[in-house]
Amino acid sequence: MRKVAVIGSGAREHALVRALLRGGRGEPREVVAIPGNAGIARETRCVPSGGGAEALARATVAEKPDLAVVGPEAPLAEGLADRLAAAGVPCFGPSAAAARIESSKAFAKEVMEKASVKTAGAAVFDDPAAAKRHARGPCVVKLDGLAAGKGVVVCDDAAQAARAIDELWAAGSSSGAVRLLVEDRLEGRELSVIAVCDGERAVALPPARDHKRLLDGDRGPNTGGMGAICSPPDAGSAIVDEVLRTVIEPTLREMAARGIPFVGALYAGLMLTRGGLSVLEFNCRLGDPEAQAILIRLRSDPLPLFSAAARRDLSGVRASWDPRTAVAVVIAAAGYPGTPRAGDEIRGLDLLAREEGDDLWVLHAGTRAQDGRIVSAGGRVLTVAALGEGPEEARRRAYGAAGRIELAGAQMRRDIAGTE
Ligand code: AMP
Ligand code: GLY
Repeated sequence: MRKVAVIGSGAREHALVRALLRGGRGEPREVVAIPGNAGIARETRCVPSGGGAEALARATVAEKPDLAVVGPEAPLAEGLADRLAAAGVPCFGPSAAAARIESSKAFAKEVMEKASVKTAGAAVFDDPAAAKRHARGPCVVKLDGLAAGKGVVVCDDAAQAARAIDELWAAGSSSGAVRLLVEDRLEGRELSVIAVCDGERAVALPPARDHKRLLDGDRGPNTGGMGAICSPPDAGSAIVDEVLRTVIEPTLREMAARGIPFVGALYAGLMLTRGGLSVLEFNCRLGDPEAQAILIRLRSDPLPLFSAAARRDLSGVRASWDPRTAVAVVIAAAGYPGTPRAGDEIRGLDLLAREEGDDLWVLHAGTRAQDGRIVSAGGRVLTVAALGEGPEEARRRAYGAAGRIELAGAQMRRDIAGTE
């Protein structure tokens, strides 16, 4: 009997649970989610827990799993993996020191510079006036700490940058983190390449493209991510090899040399510019909604992969993938990415559940069971992921299913994978 604990409560964690249950067909396996959500609870046991690293560690250790798979960045940055390691629970997810590659953009820049990884030029400021003097033309203003996708403003000119600096400065001051980066603005298409890492070696997952803006045509505010495609047709295996060679492997070497080996999913957020690829950010985890589009394509069992990484030896471990394309579409609540409206009933899930299978997943995020109904309870409420022979078919299937879900005031982009 193998027991796996999946930590987190989003659609990414729902996808992890699905992939682990699917990979475990034919062997006795228990998958528990801590704390999980209303959708995961229909498929496996969820263990209630507070959200902080300490509460999550306590709930996880009490379950005595053979492996913990951590979804979100915040508890990793707070030392969840360190606490689990101290209690003897193998963890797929980095230590707090290694998670700084996401939780401090200034630290990530420093690592990239040392490892000669190509990244957008940036200057770090702890004084808003100095940041404004520096921000002259098109640039990107970023808060140094974790901000759930809301700490970045892409600016056209100095006036916009000055406003962004004031806004982010005010937001940062209220949470204690008061450092800003002003970064060169790059042009091109974005790509997410995520690699499973054991501190030394890396196994790349198929590339994915997120759509981070709220509205069609990449307009509106940045969000955590409104939809993804895996793999985009313009991202072949040559790009993935290049990212492994020029981004992931040098970064792993630099982290190991600093005594903070990276164990877990290392996510490189890239811009494909005319002058080649450049790193915009690192995340210390699987992306959301990228994971939903990637994992629906996973044909092999994720457990040997995650567990080999956690045990620090990925040598010889491979994963196999469905050759079809996956498209994942996020359904978000009214008000997202500001203050989302909660408590609206979601209809259509039961009918759709009959059609779900290996090539159609309806995944819960901000949902809650209430009097036998499912109601909204968060910003991103659901992700619908589907496979198809190419982007067009995958997109048609994902939107066909998503269109049958009713949620008052729901926001959903109509153009995910539409320009591939
Ligand atoms: P980040 O959290 O650093 O990935 O930034 C969020 C989003 O802002 C990215 O996915 C891009 O869409 C955009 N962005 C970040 N950095 C840059 C940059 N240097 N040039 C252009 N766009 C950027
Ligand atoms: N989808 C972007 C992220 O997970 O950060």
